[in-house]
Amino acid sequence: MATTVRISPSILAADFLHLGAELKSVSNADFIHYDVMDGDFVPNISFGPGILRTVKRGTDLPVDVHMMVSNPDEVFRDYLDAGADILTFHLETAKHAHRMVDEIHKQGRRAAVAINPGTAVSALDAIIDYLDMVLIMSVNPGFSGQRFIEHTYTQLNKLSALCQSHSVRPLVEIDGGVSAANAAQVVAAGADVLVGGSAVFDSEDHAKAVDDMRQAGIRGLEMRGQ
Ligand code: DX5
Ligand code: ZN
Repeated sequence: MATTVRISPSILAADFLHLGAELKSVSNADFIHYDVMDGDFVPNISFGPGILRTVKRGTDLPVDVHMMVSNPDEVFRDYLDAGADILTFHLETAKHAHRMVDEIHKQGRRAAVAINPGTAVSALDAIIDYLDMVLIMSVNPGFSGQRFIEHTYTQLNKLSALCQSHSVRPLVEIDGGVSAANAAQVVAAGADVLVGGSAVFDSEDHAKAVDDMRQAGIRGLEMRGQ
């Protein structure tokens, strides 16, 4: 059982003109969240493996790569080569999920699967035993600054039940619309890793926003009875 809350600032919401300084401003976080968008699976284009290499040079934190792409089986190796520490692909577009997870593990990285808000948690049943982390989307992926979808709490409850029935405890990451205002409730419902895009990078003091989210999350752990 996780007894800590991890914060993963999403640099999609950072000021790209000052990426190095933005990365340093969140060095008190646990991971850096790197959103890959291909303009096909999601209606936006962000960055690919080239910029990931640059980001790796700008931080000592593990980089948590979230691939929102239509062809993860074809491109995931590029992100391993570029230094992804945690590599997440979407179940909705994976052709051979177990094969990808195996290859990610063979390279000594952590493997995660993401599902969109409209995907049933039960779709994870065949792969859950092999994962280091599950990413539950709490917005429809594509943009920072969207509103948290309340149905996420039901998704989290179902994921807890699925994990229990498999006797596994992958990390649970929540992505989209998370801030210090809802972090406690999200953690109480089972999240361990909170992604913060606009909540971190649109704030005056990024490091404080990270700490505030973590503190709120820790209150949620207490509500869970840990
Ligand atoms: C959304 C991305 C998120 C996004 C989060 O498609 O996957 O990681 O950057 O941004 P906020 O926290 O502003 O919703
Ligand atoms: Zn993301």
